[in-house]
Amino acid sequence: MPHQWVPLDLGESDLDADDPEEQMGSKEKNWVRIADDDRRWLVKVARVDERDGTISGEDWAEWLVQHIANSVGVPTAHVRPALFEGQRATASRSMLRNDSERLIHGNELLSARFPNYDQSIRGENPGYTLSAVQDAVVGIPGPPDLSIRLEAFDTIAGYLMCDALVAGRDRHHENWGVIRRGGDRWLAPSFDHGNALGFQERDAKRMRLLRDRELFDRWVRRGTSQHFVGRPTLVDLAIGALRVSSRDAQDFWIGHLHDFQPDGVDAELEPVPHDVMSEVSRRFVVSLLDTNRRRLLDGYSAAPA
Ligand SMILES: Nc1ncnc2c1ncn2[C@@H]1O[C@H](COP(=O)(O)OP(=O)(O)OP(=O)(O)O)[C@@H](O)[C@H]1O
Ligand SMILES: [Mg+2]
Repeated sequence: MPHQWVPLDLGESDLDADDPEEQMGSKEKNWVRIADDDRRWLVKVARVDERDGTISGEDWAEWLVQHIANSVGVPTAHVRPALFEGQRATASRSMLRNDSERLIHGNELLSARFPNYDQSIRGENPGYTLSAVQDAVVGIPGPPDLSIRLEAFDTIAGYLMCDALVAGRDRHHENWGVIRRGGDRWLAPSFDHGNALGFQERDAKRMRLLRDRELFDRWVRRGTSQHFVGRPTLVDLAIGALRVSSRDAQDFWIGHLHDFQPDGVDAELEPVPHDVMSEVSRRFVVSLLDTNRRRLLDGYSAAPA
């Protein structure tokens, strides 16, 4: 069934009165309540370039990546397009069912496992390695909404594969986590996908990149992790994670990637208004997905098993 683009119309009066951070709607991120839903939603307003008023594509990127992720098997927070006080935004439905659940971010898990881990670093972090992540989540299962049973790290390998597919560079240690309820813990679905699919580029640049294959390939190769040590390419990072995952996990993720059809994304984008996402952005996204899917599949088959 095609997805729908039906923005939630939100404003100051929808802010969650119980928000512990007492956000007043002045920031770009706010928790809101909507009718007939007992969970709150996190609203993020798309950034606007002050110089010329260009609105970044964070909203369509966040919305589209969830659908791409789901089609390669990755469970995600549920995201809807939104308007907040008339500004383009997205709303992400809380992954926590109620107050008995808590989200523990990756940096907290890494610190618990490695007392010297520096939680405060936002860029490249010397302690942020695949093997550290693997150690920090040992014994924790993947999300219950995953269609097969996998351990947390095996699932994270799929998140990294999806990041590489969509050129999402922002998987820092607070952009994944574990949900805890009482003595139970499981990996949270993937969230925060707005920094992907070339959301920040201008259409003129996308056009130039689409016309010049060499330029395009160079742009794609600049897709590196901003946070993992050594800033590896997203493709190398994902393949590294897959290669240390279980056989079942590798087969599951690579099988989904194999079946994924970048061309099909065009049809998924039909409900998105053209003033929100331009024609050239759509072509750019399909080309990017096609290229990254190939890079991942080729890299995976070339990497030693
Ligand atoms: N659907 C969700 N359910 C529960 N918590 C969420 C959800 N979405 C986001 N959060 C929480 O809110 C925080 C900020 O959200 P998110 O990462 O999407 O925003 P951001 O501003 O893009 O973050 P960043 O600082 O990574 O740029 C997350 O780190 C997480 O703790
Ligand atoms: Mg984040």
